[in-house]
Amino acid sequence: MNIIYPSHSKPLLSVLQGQAQWPPPVWLMRQAGRYLPEFREWRNKADFLTRCLTPDIATELTLQPIERYGMEGAILFSDILILPWAMGLSLDFVPEEGPVMTPVRSSQDLKKLQIHQLFEKTEPVFQALRQISSKLKNTKTTLLGFAGSPFTVACYMIEGRSSRDFTTVKHLMLSDPLFFEELIHILVQTTAALLIKQIAAGAEAVMLFDSWAGIVPSFLFGRYVSEPTREIIKEIRKVYPQVPVIGFPRQAGIMIEPYAQQTKVNAIGLDSGADINLACKVLPDNIVVQGNLDPVSLLVGGKQMEENIRALCYSMRNRPYIFNLGHGVLPQTPPENVARLIEVVRKL
Ligand code: CP3
Repeated sequence: MNIIYPSHSKPLLSVLQGQAQWPPPVWLMRQAGRYLPEFREWRNKADFLTRCLTPDIATELTLQPIERYGMEGAILFSDILILPWAMGLSLDFVPEEGPVMTPVRSSQDLKKLQIHQLFEKTEPVFQALRQISSKLKNTKTTLLGFAGSPFTVACYMIEGRSSRDFTTVKHLMLSDPLFFEELIHILVQTTAALLIKQIAAGAEAVMLFDSWAGIVPSFLFGRYVSEPTREIIKEIRKVYPQVPVIGFPRQAGIMIEPYAQQTKVNAIGLDSGADINLACKVLPDNIVVQGNLDPVSLLVGGKQMEENIRALCYSMRNRPYIFNLGHGVLPQTPPENVARLIEVVRKL
């Protein structure tokens, strides 16, 4: 059975504004990705940065999962590392390794950042958003913009690549706090500016990905995770007081409670390690919860997946809740499992 929504109402946006919906709206982190055959076709035609920075390609890749499955949320096809790239750092996506960029490790390095280029270089991203926004007009799909949170973007800028534990980053955080604070400050300002421009170009809500929040020692969590996020949200609300912000402090554990209180996010994305019912007990009543099916449960599929989906949704029935994973869709995921996931949520 398909649920028919009036064309003017957007269930995901309604939930973000505090109204619970049944069945809950659904979208998936990394829903535009390698598990889709139509996405893989583009990988042979253009490299990752070209795909992000060509408005027609970014538009098509953003809409691929919506055309196939009809999720209630469409997340812009882009990357959190477009920001440091737009400030002049070289960026490469190396197969089997991930992003590789010029490391930034001193105040001298920070002076070389070309912040003035930011909007010029990211113009294709805003053009893509305008195109996607016009295509989603009069549909029930909400357009989501996003950025990385300052701490997570700082991790990649300092390390220059992915890492299991970002020891170099933590070393600098503790040994050179002046440099670290300066970098976080630059990222707060530029990220807020970027998100405001994304909203102006058609994003109806925005998400801040803090994938590495969980590695920050608790005594610095407020300073480097919550406070920068609070400042970004404050800047956005000066211009767009009604636009919801979703925060995703991955693996922050018990720190989600002070995070929600301090940052004043509208919604919080939970990773799969967080017990959703326990999380709801500590979070403020008015906060929207998003998550947190394990991506491996989606990859495996079958009965366990269906049971996990139903358990999650029923336990969140009386709260504004958005169905999602606890992290991104894994590349090996069978596309038919995603179809089944959407069907199970819709048929609740
Ligand atoms: O569908 C969507 O979710 C929208 C697009 C999106 C991408 N990256 C596309 C992408 C989003 C929201 C991101 C966020 C992102 N990027 C995060 C935060 C979320 C998370 O996963 O923790 C981070 C840490 C990055 C940085 C990044 N980009 C890494 C570490 C990698 C390599 C690992 C990998 O998954 O390949 C990327 C590359 C990337 N970003 C791909 C995609 C679709 C794969 C590129 C390819 O096609 O080869």
